[in-house]
Amino acid sequence: MSATAFMFPVWVLAAVVIVGDGAKGECPFAAIFNFGDSNSDTGGLVSAFPSQSRPNGETTFGEPVGRFCDGRLVVDFLAQGLGFPYLNPYLQAMGSNFTTGANFASAGASVLRPINQVRPNGWLSPFYLQIQYDQFVHLKSTALELYSKGWFRDTVPLPSTFENALYTIDMGQNDLTAQLSNGIPMDQVSAQFPQVVDAIGSVIQALYTTGARFFMVSNMGPLGCYPAFLATSAPHNPNDLDSNGCLISLNQVVSNFNEVLKNKTFLLQTQLYGSSVIYVDSNSIKYQLWANGAANGFKSTTTACCGPSQGQYNYDSTVTCSNSAIVNGQIVSSTSCINPSSYVSWDGIHFTESANRFVATQMFSGSYFQPSFPITQMCPLSFF
Ligand SMILES: *[C@@H]1O[C@H](CO)[C@@H](O)[C@H](O)[C@H]1NC(C)=O
Ligand SMILES: *[C@@H]1O[C@H](CO)[C@@H](O)[C@H](O)[C@H]1NC(C)=O
Repeated sequence: MSATAFMFPVWVLAAVVIVGDGAKGECPFAAIFNFGDSNSDTGGLVSAFPSQSRPNGETTFGEPVGRFCDGRLVVDFLAQGLGFPYLNPYLQAMGSNFTTGANFASAGASVLRPINQVRPNGWLSPFYLQIQYDQFVHLKSTALELYSKGWFRDTVPLPSTFENALYTIDMGQNDLTAQLSNGIPMDQVSAQFPQVVDAIGSVIQALYTTGARFFMVSNMGPLGCYPAFLATSAPHNPNDLDSNGCLISLNQVVSNFNEVLKNKTFLLQTQLYGSSVIYVDSNSIKYQLWANGAANGFKSTTTACCGPSQGQYNYDSTVTCSNSAIVNGQIVSSTSCINPSSYVSWDGIHFTESANRFVATQMFSGSYFQPSFPITQMCPLSFF
């Protein structure tokens, strides 16, 4: 821990010399490279497998734009806060501009290789973490080659961008939920966490070897509060609910994952000389949405906004947001609620834009970074 604490100011000074151009003040970041799942997918999965319907995207974009949300994600608020356009997905073939970063995240992506993880009828994205890393390496080598030829300067990052970028990672949720859908008992799921976290650590180490120096690793959100898991589990386990209506046992499993992840990030900070590996406690921020939802303008915390308009949680795994199905001889459609901004959950699994804004605002206050990092003092972050 101390090595990083001492190294960090030196690194910031170096970065300011390289990046500082007046306009950005002393903010050291020239770009964001993001690795993740649907929590931070800005269109990767939909670029590979085109299909997404309304009402996704309705609040901010007016149409589906590849995000599993009514509007912006936390990574969108981060990009906006740093003065960048929204991150384009690496896989987006048309109109992409990677000068200020790229997004490798894919909805349904796991850390571990999906084929080893799901039973025959299960599904995970093929773009698991190692593939996302390979895509980054390819993007970087292509960018360096194009730079040396002087081509596409207005859409390709400069060579110096890579060492001055913020590398963000938010993964593991699909590894955990794949195990649960495979029927592995809750008390045995944690056995897999060291393997998942080691794979995350290996990718951070590999990125460091390419010259990456600044990492933010987000921990896992309180899945036990999400309407999708509540709808499946709560009716059979009424004694498993805490005072905020969340599943105690599932949230405990998430805490186990987060502890393993935190230990790994702390270890990496001592091992990767001259780097900053920040553990971001998003879980504590997100849990506030349930614990203090009303005080923050959220009237509905355990009911999904976009759903079949049925049941306490408004979630049915056979009729998820934007889909229709015939249930008991009747067509049931999952559509949006009237006022998404008063809901925490968009579709039972993902957050609404207004919940994401809350999370981003709290996150970049700096109080949830370990070790602490004064991002707002350095970068002109503002959220609206
Ligand atoms: C790509 O984005 C950069 C940074 O926002 C901008 O300066 C540049 O003009 C953009 N390129 C194109 C072709 O729009
Ligand atoms: C995390 O590290 C602490 C302190 O080194 C240790 O006591 C704890 O057992 C570790 N937990 C996990 C889950 O690895």
